[in-house]
Amino acid sequence: MNMPSSEQLIGIACDHGGYEMKEFLKAKLIEFGLKVVDYGTNSPESVDYPDFIHPIARDVNDTKLKTAVIICGSGNGAQMTANKYGNVRAALCWNVELASLARQHNDANILALPGRFVSFELAWSMVKVFIETNFEGGRHSGRVSKIGRIQ
Ligand code: RB5
Repeated sequence: MNMPSSEQLIGIACDHGGYEMKEFLKAKLIEFGLKVVDYGTNSPESVDYPDFIHPIARDVNDTKLKTAVIICGSGNGAQMTANKYGNVRAALCWNVELASLARQHNDANILALPGRFVSFELAWSMVKVFIETNFEGGRHSGRVSKIGRIQ
């Protein structure tokens, strides 16, 4: 079986606060032509966001996934969990410009969304910009490399 390359794959994960949005975005991403790896959760039942964010963040960290979208109610818990991984740069975004800047300036590899605070359509606009925008490199490369790790 030919496995899709990490270039074609996008991961998506959420807790109950992002479940409905995750289902909406997953359908949009498939329609858009991407292969989506769904890390759950798969119902509106209350869960703990780290249980769903650690596995997807680990796969981005290990380059099994190039890009991922994570959603919780506020986006904060999901982003904080993902950013525990040294190769992860998860950006919590509330509008399209921030999603674009997260790629252009920060080479973000995970988009974190506040599932309870933005519309599904705005969320999709942010996801689309995030996957279509390239890192600008140049002066931003040195800055991103200085983010580093604190042991
Ligand atoms: C769940 O109620 C909520 O706390 C969670 O989705 C998230 O917002 C945490 O940061």
